Amino acid sequence: MNFKEEYKKRTEYVEEVLRKYLPRAEGYQSVIMEAMEYSLMAGGKRIRPILMCEAYRLFGGEGRTIEPFMAAIEMIHTYSLVHDDLPAMDNDEYRRGRKTTHIVYGEDMGILSGDALLNYAFETACASFDMEESSYKSVGRALQVLSRKAGIYGMIGGQVVDVKESGNAVSGEVLDFIYRLKTSALIEASMMVGAILAGAGEADVKRMEQIAGKIGLAFQIQDDILDVTSTTEMLGKPVHSDEKNEKTTYVTWKGIEKAKEDVERMTQGAVSELKAFPAKDEFLVLLLESLVYRKK
Ligand code: IPE
Ligand code: IPE
Ligand code: MG
Ligand code: MG
Ligand code: MG
Repeated sequence: MNFKEEYKKRTEYVEEVLRKYLPRAEGYQSVIMEAMEYSLMAGGKRIRPILMCEAYRLFGGEGRTIEPFMAAIEMIHTYSLVHDDLPAMDNDEYRRGRKTTHIVYGEDMGILSGDALLNYAFETACASFDMEESSYKSVGRALQVLSRKAGIYGMIGGQVVDVKESGNAVSGEVLDFIYRLKTSALIEASMMVGAILAGAGEADVKRMEQIAGKIGLAFQIQDDILDVTSTTEMLGKPVHSDEKNEKTTYVTWKGIEKAKEDVERMTQGAVSELKAFPAKDEFLVLLLESLVYRKK
């Protein structure tokens, strides 16, 4: 398999789905639709919708019921970035190779466009109810998972502790808690929703949650590594943001070599759990492995 080509195909598919569900800029409030498009269509690796779609196919999902949820998870993730970059949080001026939303549209519209993306994500996901092939029960269950993983027991909860503990030395246990919530939760939601909409049983959904939890942790540790080893041009966002905000990270906690080892170990753990499923997905395995060595 030519991984690069396959990945490109999938990111193009995600972009097409996002464009389909983006709101048209109209009405007196049209600036908010423009700001939503500005952050959402700036690029990004699109790994959450891709993971969702792969999980859906792994469990035999066909058709388009997954598409509104693919758009929704990327909207929620993008809103989390827009708010993460605000002056009151990480105070960063670049994202996905562009000036951040609050720099271009002002802080007020930065806050509101994050709110808008979050709310519109759920409006979009609800479009699944109108699709012919959809099952009300699995769409309802998927909404339940998505809303919980995005909220105070998921991504928002993790961001709360991350911000609250800026400037403090944080224990390994608390750091783990922060990463599991701020980053793993949306990756868990992606893989769980894919499985749920394909009709997977609860036990399999639980296994996907565990696999995704490890991927999320490895993903955030690699993000911390890149914050100290990469460049702003390569990442499309500022390097040394964690140092500026006096964050405890896996790199400050364990050192860079141990952090790299952890990324590999956690990824390998996730990959071997994934390979234990009867259905095979070669692309998904390659994608998870590529995240370890990703450069942005
Ligand atoms: C950045 O996420 C925030 C983290 C959870 C580390 P991504 O690295 O997936 O950002 P994009 O979507 O590619 O811009
Ligand atoms: C944020 O982690 C994760 C989110 C939930 C947005 P970071 O603050 O490390 O993400 P980046 O490095 O700004 O993308
Ligand atoms: Mg942050
Ligand atoms: Mg940040
Ligand atoms: Mg970071």
